[in-house]
Amino acid sequence: MTALPDTLCYLDGEFLPLNQAKVSVMDRGFLFGDGAYESIPVYGRRMFRFDDHMARFERSLGKLEIEADLDREAWLSRLRKVIAAFPAADQLVYLQVTRGVAPRSHLMPLGLRPTVFVTTSERLFPTPAQRVQGLACITARDFRWQRGDIKSTSLLGNVLARKISADQDADETILLHDDVPGGPWLTEGASSNVWVVHEGALLGPAPGDHVLAGVRIELLRELCEETGTAFNLRPVSEADVRSADEVLLSSASKEIIAVTRIDGEQVGHGALRGRPGPVYARLHEAYQRAIRSQSI
Ligand SMILES: Cc1ncc(COP(=O)(O)O)c(C=O)c1O
Repeated sequence: MTALPDTLCYLDGEFLPLNQAKVSVMDRGFLFGDGAYESIPVYGRRMFRFDDHMARFERSLGKLEIEADLDREAWLSRLRKVIAAFPAADQLVYLQVTRGVAPRSHLMPLGLRPTVFVTTSERLFPTPAQRVQGLACITARDFRWQRGDIKSTSLLGNVLARKISADQDADETILLHDDVPGGPWLTEGASSNVWVVHEGALLGPAPGDHVLAGVRIELLRELCEETGTAFNLRPVSEADVRSADEVLLSSASKEIIAVTRIDGEQVGHGALRGRPGPVYARLHEAYQRAIRSQSI
């Protein structure tokens, strides 16, 4: 077993060392993955886009009909306490609420006390080498469930999807859905949103049943406006991905990052083939500015 660090976490009203935190084996998070979560990036102990993450957390819990206390000020102070106690200043803080503890039944019990958990870890990515070289990705059929709009702790589909690229020493799995005519269509990565660049425009699929409403979708819309880059949420086909000038990923941990190899083929055209492109460079710069001005 990997030893857990003794960093401070929060569990059900108490702050305690992570390696001492315990929940019941009858917690529905353990039995069913019956819960929702968020990962918020932290820069110099300040959270980036806290309100957007909390708004999505509320939406996920609402869709699961889990009634948790979502008072923003209470969450802010609880998260800040965990962040302050952690040794590294750059972190990914993790928030999870599950339905709570009850005798096992598929039927959702009413009126449970949700289990509330917060922990944090060091934010180590993207590395400088990944910034320069871009990431390698592998494509796979999107075999996950049809509630990708909920940021649920039921992540087995995503975990299995990520293994496909990990087995080939690649950084992320890009998922393609083939149930709709005209496809396969791009959905998202195992733990990221995926973007393509055609003729200077940033294109990505709209959030929905197969695409999580990533906090960076609206952020990128803003950064595109700021940098004069066309931005469009519309269906993206497999052919659009394979013929793109640039492919990018976005997530709380990856920020925005270039994909330079897909299924062993270099992305892009001409002199920029296999290298991060100009739209990436522009958006990365704008992203770093946004971190500085919007973290709390
Ligand atoms: C399945 C999936 N899609 C998209 C994202 C990107 O969302 P965000 O930008 O809010 O991190 C994530 C983030 O972890 C994810 O797990």
